[in-house]
Amino acid sequence: MTTRLSVNVNKVALLRNSREGEVPSPLEAARIALDAGAHGITVHPRPDERHVRRSDVLPLAELVREAAGGVAGEVEYNIEGNPFLGDYLAIAGEAKPDQCTLVPDDPAQKTSDHGWDLKRDAGRVKPVVEHLKALGCRVSLFMDPVIEQIELAPATGADRIELYTEGYARAIAAGSPEADRVHEQYAAAARRAQELGLGVNGGHDLNLENLGRFVSIGGILEVSIGHALTADALLHHGLAEAVRRYLAAMGQ
Ligand code: PXP
Repeated sequence: MTTRLSVNVNKVALLRNSREGEVPSPLEAARIALDAGAHGITVHPRPDERHVRRSDVLPLAELVREAAGGVAGEVEYNIEGNPFLGDYLAIAGEAKPDQCTLVPDDPAQKTSDHGWDLKRDAGRVKPVVEHLKALGCRVSLFMDPVIEQIELAPATGADRIELYTEGYARAIAAGSPEADRVHEQYAAAARRAQELGLGVNGGHDLNLENLGRFVSIGGILEVSIGHALTADALLHHGLAEAVRRYLAAMGQ
């Protein structure tokens, strides 16, 4: 099984937004990433539009559709966001991405920093999942590696979870024995999700140093990566070569 790489172009948009105009273009970045072999594009349009803007979403959807060439699942579009904030549901309704990754972030957060608390939120997440699935989107829930929480995901109707990997990335950077313990925690969470029939994605702070070990968990369907890949592209490799190196880090 091949773990798919979805490149998050939010940070390209952040740089673009620091000036008037369209440079650097998230659309062009997405095209380069797909040409270099990425399996998909991710965006996280936040209500304040500090990264990708609502106006970026449809052109990117069109680009991904063209790249897929009518073959379902060939190249995928993933839109992340909090369905209870801003225009997320309207944006998803317009773009009809292959996958909606639902994230419980609030506008004040710099970035997503926790998974869903389904003990509290399953009741309101479930109708949203139903709505998005009725549009034809696969639905994934951003989750901490906490088994009691993951066990509540199937009842929402979600197809997948995305493991929030910041804790994993920190532990790998800190080294053993913390790295071994946390790796096993993530592996156990992934196994439990898989036993429950959920697909497992991963994302946040994955980079060239920690990615290979993360996918060695087995059965990880997709990783979505933005920050480190964009930084590697900028400082070291250029975007196309950075994408190729991330694929190589997963043995592809
Ligand atoms: N997954 C989710 C839900 C995110 O919010 C983000 C950051 O936008 C990522 C994955 C990608 O994280 P990073 O930019 O650290 O690669």
